[in-house]
Amino acid sequence: MIQQSLRSLAPRQDEVTLRPARRADADAIVRLVNGYAAEGIMLPRSLDSVVHALDDFVVAVDRRGKLLGCGALKEYSPSLAEVSSLAIVREAHGTGLGRRIVRQVETLALKRGITELFALTLTPAFFESAGYALADRAGYPEKIRHDCLRCPRRIRCDEICVSRLLAASPALEAAA
Ligand SMILES: CC(C)(COP(=O)(O)OP(=O)(O)OC[C@H]1O[C@@H](n2cnc3c(N)ncnc32)[C@H](O)[C@@H]1OP(=O)(O)O)[C@@H](O)C(=O)NCCC(=O)NCCS
Repeated sequence: MIQQSLRSLAPRQDEVTLRPARRADADAIVRLVNGYAAEGIMLPRSLDSVVHALDDFVVAVDRRGKLLGCGALKEYSPSLAEVSSLAIVREAHGTGLGRRIVRQVETLALKRGITELFALTLTPAFFESAGYALADRAGYPEKIRHDCLRCPRRIRCDEICVSRLLAASPALEAAA
């Protein structure tokens, strides 16, 4: 019921623009991501880390430029990256925006020659519906070394690993 009335506040998809992030988006990205981080749903991001990674971020904005969602590509090797910091404002949940941002992040990955993406997530069903498969996180030692070993939740981590080979997606290659 609450989700339904929130959704009635969501902008129509044809009023939403997806584009690379700019410096002016950084504060709103941090607020959005850290709001979910405070609920334990995502890892927090500092303003500095977002500003330094702006080229890796895709954002969705409404006609007034208000941030509706974001997602980022986090590179681990020339062929491997993570879909990270994916977040959609609550009033736009369930409107297809999360899927659209993931597709844009995939397009960015292909442009950089990356052929494999993974994510650690509490919502694996969302990624599965976008073509990702459950994966063993031990297959991503770069991630474990870089983030997991420093993460306060590493002992009781309940995130699930999913992955997708982009080379197997001709439609995406065409779009890149
Ligand atoms: C998870 C999240 C990014 C999904 O974005 P969204 O815009 O609501 O999702 P979409 O409308 O694009 O949904 C696409 C598909 O995923 C499914 N889906 C969306 N959220 C889901 C969830 N929480 N659980 C299971 N399936 C979900 C939808 O039903 C839809 O399936 P369909 O194509 O079969 O109809 C968004 O809910 C969010 O920002 N959540 C809080 C932060 C978070 O959890 N980030 C992910 C960290 S990895």
